[in-house]
Amino acid sequence: MSEVQSDALVFFGATGDLAYKKIFPALQAMVKRGHLNVPVIGVAKSGWNLDNLLERARDSVKNYGGLDADAFARLAKLMRYVDGDYRDPATFQAIRRELGTVQRPAHYLAIPPAMFETVVEQLASSGCAAAPGCEGGARVIVEKPFGHDLASARELNGILHRVFSEPSIFRIDHYLGKQPVNNVVVFRFANAFMEPFWNRNYIESVQVTMAEEFGVEGRGAFYDQTGAIRDVIQNHIFQIISNLAMEPPVSIDGESLRDEKVKVLRAMQTIAAGDLARGQFRGYRDEKGVAPDSKTETYAALRLEIDSWRWKGVPFYVRAGKCLPVTCTEVLATFREPPTFLPGNAPGRNYMRFRISPDMAIAVGAILMGESEAMEGKPLEIVAGKLPCPGEMAAYERVLGDAMNGDASHFAREDYVEEAWRIVDPVLQAPPPVYEYAKGTWGPAEVNATVAPPEGWHNPGSMAPEKSAIAEPCAA
Ligand code: BG6
Repeated sequence: MSEVQSDALVFFGATGDLAYKKIFPALQAMVKRGHLNVPVIGVAKSGWNLDNLLERARDSVKNYGGLDADAFARLAKLMRYVDGDYRDPATFQAIRRELGTVQRPAHYLAIPPAMFETVVEQLASSGCAAAPGCEGGARVIVEKPFGHDLASARELNGILHRVFSEPSIFRIDHYLGKQPVNNVVVFRFANAFMEPFWNRNYIESVQVTMAEEFGVEGRGAFYDQTGAIRDVIQNHIFQIISNLAMEPPVSIDGESLRDEKVKVLRAMQTIAAGDLARGQFRGYRDEKGVAPDSKTETYAALRLEIDSWRWKGVPFYVRAGKCLPVTCTEVLATFREPPTFLPGNAPGRNYMRFRISPDMAIAVGAILMGESEAMEGKPLEIVAGKLPCPGEMAAYERVLGDAMNGDASHFAREDYVEEAWRIVDPVLQAPPPVYEYAKGTWGPAEVNATVAPPEGWHNPGSMAPEKSAIAEPCAA
């Protein structure tokens, strides 16, 4: 990890949707916390000027998190704007002029990957990027999706490496900026009681569900080229699974963590077409930007195998979808059955549940004695939860701050993204059929004929055993 701070942030796509929803609120929060005090240069081709951009930024923070008049005023002083075509060298000469004496700018490409090559080459030829291998020089931060498949991801890596060295490349997956995702690693390795059972000897299966109640929210044109597998499974869900499945890193430095994550993916088999079910919510093809005969999946359910010493034979079931009944991301690991002495059927199974969003919780499903005089068991869930606290860093604030500090721990490394694409590539090239489902349901009925955990799907929000809750209060 390099400790050198970037001395400017140049962000391409400044008038776009991502900047509006995530980047301006993150920048205001960084200024407020005292983490950003360098020039911020927005770049786009909109025919705008700085005043237009500031107006948009003000509107963005009002709608996404709230305007902090003092922090916003300080951010406004840091902001510059360059309007121009990314293919035009004059745009980059203007950026170079704005950079002035800046030595180590961070260039953030919040733009479609199809534009990466053009922008990276222009950065190099205009002198806005440092020479390859030049430590402490310019950095590049790239948004997901990183490519469209394995071949395009390799190509993008090649393009970036022509100008930037790997330690200067920060591939964003904002799930790595989420504390509940990183907490999976801390919880596993900081608690001695976890290790003895967190393996194939005790865990029978693992389910990861990323359910979203909303649809494509005006992003139809983007989503139709993407689909659920590329949009959230190949990146966000694989990051969660890597944290669940990895071996203890030799230390908590970025490279050691990233080494262990990539080993999980290397041990993962490619997904077979018979292990994937795809769905599309009814009405999707009427969305703006979506092809009338689109076969893009807004839902996917699949089964994964990790052929490692720890996990061989334990199926990992994954579901992700739009227009499902709730918005919630949750992991459920079901334990093998004990050779119980209780009469009759066991009243439930032991499990561990990690809730990743919207709030963070870790729960253990246990069996204890019921109220009757008989030696009968009843299920109880022991929950430790933590609600998001006011002022907590949002994922984008964390990842942007880390990138500007040169800390790559929470970014996807070259080998990781390529492994992730390898796993999904065959089903992307030859996808199984897509079935319709009604909005507000848990996906198409056909799913269970293809991918069905023996214990049944766990629908977050549907567990109703007796609860013993310990919710940690926020720090004052
Ligand atoms: C994005 C996807 O990367 O992640 C969206 O493009 C998805 O489709 C979003 O809704 C989910 O992120 P979060 O932080 O809201 O869980």
